[in-house]
Amino acid sequence: RRRTRVHHLQEMTDRGEKWSMLTSYDVLTAQVFDEAGVPALLVGDSAGGTVFGHATTLPVTVDDLVPLARAVVVGAPHALVVADLPFGSYEASDTDAVAAGVRFLKEAGVHAVKLEGGVRSASRIRALVDAGIPVMGHIGFTPQAEHALGGYRVQGRGDAADALRADAVAVQAAGAFSVVLEMVPADLAAAVTDELRIPTVGIGAGAGTDAQVLVWQDFAGLTGGRTPRFVKRYADLRTTLGDAARAYAEDVRAGTFPGPEHSF
Ligand code: KIV
Ligand code: NA
Repeated sequence: RRRTRVHHLQEMTDRGEKWSMLTSYDVLTAQVFDEAGVPALLVGDSAGGTVFGHATTLPVTVDDLVPLARAVVVGAPHALVVADLPFGSYEASDTDAVAAGVRFLKEAGVHAVKLEGGVRSASRIRALVDAGIPVMGHIGFTPQAEHALGGYRVQGRGDAADALRADAVAVQAAGAFSVVLEMVPADLAAAVTDELRIPTVGIGAGAGTDAQVLVWQDFAGLTGGRTPRFVKRYADLRTTLGDAARAYAEDVRAGTFPGPEHSF
């Protein structure tokens, strides 16, 4: 198996083959997902919640994500690794966007970056692409704009559908190789997918997109409490790890770990 590249994702989409993406923030999950054949990994600013314990993605910085992205690149010899440009690293200017993108390629070795916004971010996308940095767009619900959007809500309902379509077209026209559609009605996501040439990657956007992405702690059942409706749990790691920790603590209390086979 060779490294997945941007053109491979386009070719899969052109053949009608749906493809998957998972987030990863460390070397071991990157190894596992890469060995499982997941063709694209995202070092998301969702690390704000899943790694650093923030309530939102807003506090995440480039300095936070670069070492995580580096670890994912080390762990994944085959996947295309995409890093999120965090809030504050690209809003002010195209120059900022390119500087942040360059850091991820130079210091972490990622293959592409993702940033939020359609029409409003088209100039940033173009500047990055012109610098030789492949860009994945992200429209619909964009968590970095949570306060402007009034919280976690489905985007593009009713009259807002035309604006979402315009965002999708702007992202493609600016040179992005793919675009995430987050929390968009399934019929609208399918219509956008029909309209665009580049692959659409859905999260809470129904079955009509070209690809899907999930946060790994959600899909593996490690996240506590309620997960969004669009998550399917493929494992129950929270129970598995909790049971293991309880058994270990009990063994240590009882003096049954370590045994002679663990001792020198
Ligand atoms: O940060 C992230 O994990 C994301 C995906 C959910 C698309 O942006
Ligand atoms: Na993100």
